[in-house]
Amino acid sequence: MTRAYSISAESIAKERERVADDLSRFDVSRVIQMDELELRPMGPFDVHLRILAVSAEHNVDHAALADTINIVETRGGKMYPGNSAVGEILGVGDGVQRFKPGEIVLTHCNGAPDKFGYPLRIWGYDQPDSIGWYAEEAMVEEWQLIPCPLDCGLSLWEMAALPLRAPTAYHLWRRAIGIYRLKVPAERQAVLNVLAFGGGVSELFLMLAASQGHNAFFCSGSEERRDALAERGIVGIDQNTFNRFATRDDVRAFSKEVRQLTSGENVHIVCDMLRGPVADAGINILARQGVNVSAGWQLAQKVTYNSTIQSVKQVTLDHVHLETIDGSVAATELYGRVFKPTIHKEVYAFEDLPRCMQEMYENVQTGIPIIRVAQELPAAFGQTG
Ligand SMILES: NC(=O)c1ccc[n+]([C@@H]2O[C@H](COP(=O)([O-])OP(=O)(O)OC[C@H]3O[C@@H](n4cnc5c(N)ncnc54)[C@H](OP(=O)(O)O)[C@@H]3O)[C@@H](O)[C@H]2O)c1
Repeated sequence: MTRAYSISAESIAKERERVADDLSRFDVSRVIQMDELELRPMGPFDVHLRILAVSAEHNVDHAALADTINIVETRGGKMYPGNSAVGEILGVGDGVQRFKPGEIVLTHCNGAPDKFGYPLRIWGYDQPDSIGWYAEEAMVEEWQLIPCPLDCGLSLWEMAALPLRAPTAYHLWRRAIGIYRLKVPAERQAVLNVLAFGGGVSELFLMLAASQGHNAFFCSGSEERRDALAERGIVGIDQNTFNRFATRDDVRAFSKEVRQLTSGENVHIVCDMLRGPVADAGINILARQGVNVSAGWQLAQKVTYNSTIQSVKQVTLDHVHLETIDGSVAATELYGRVFKPTIHKEVYAFEDLPRCMQEMYENVQTGIPIIRVAQELPAAFGQTG
């Protein structure tokens, strides 16, 4: 038996009833509960893991809130969440070729690759029967693991921030730059203006843009997170100045500010993981031939825009789900070189994971939140990670 967190449809319904469906009063920590789980017997291609650290991922809050879809109900009334982890291998099945006990690995969360490698489903979310990694131990198949780049210069906590967010950012960037370059080759314009709105994926997206010499802008409501990116040459824009785009006047004021910051050029690539009021703001600031990419719908699932205007401007709105497995491996090569994530000031204890998920929901964290699962760490990390 291993300790693992679960979310039940019953606990969601109880909390929704307590707050009368007012999600501003919803307490995620009442819904994510410590549970126990029996691991399946090891199969020939299985790897038995001891989880060292995990990152709090926003999809877990979405699952607990049931605010996009009620994924827990769809999964039969209970699910074990968690789709990014760093682990140590305890044992491997007879057929496992790539790994051996004692090695440190990362998970990717592609639950069911299509014929080109893109995920049809996400592990620990909508992949049926998938058991997530907010647990002390896990049994996974060999294909689900990527070797951990121990010599990349990042701490255990920094690496734990990346298994889901880095591949997402990597794919968003590959898509955005690829689409833009189809329209405007580097021969005609070398340096682009790239803007992303608050959040861990967006921060990594901007690190990619800045590493390739582009002008990068981070529009966020968090001063700590803006300051952290400023140290990497990424210009901060305070989203609160524009009331998080509550009215058309706020969107207009933001567009004016961006035009000034970019010397009238506007933005060639926008990453919007939030939608809702952010979507309008992001579409408005696009330059001609601009590209808007998204792999998230935290504030809304639907977007409306004027098709005529976007056609005349040759604008592209692109939709990303997640990187391929090969792409996730490639993204790992950039740990420490490009991806240097900002971690929230507290590394949470395993027992405090529900509080961590609630604080993520309250949007009070100063960086990507990490949970330490293992008390004893492998020698490679010392005792401080
Ligand atoms: N498709 C995928 O593979 C994939 C992967 C990762 C994430 N996602 C999704 O993408 C979204 C963002 O994920 P993430 O990991 O980047 O999130 P994150 O690190 O938890 O950041 C979320 C950000 O949302 C911003 N925010 C919160 N409330 C807001 C509001 N009312 N208006 C504007 N901004 C607000 C905050 O930015 P500031 O306060 O700094 O402005 C916060 O930093 C989530 O919905 C997540 O599920 C999808």
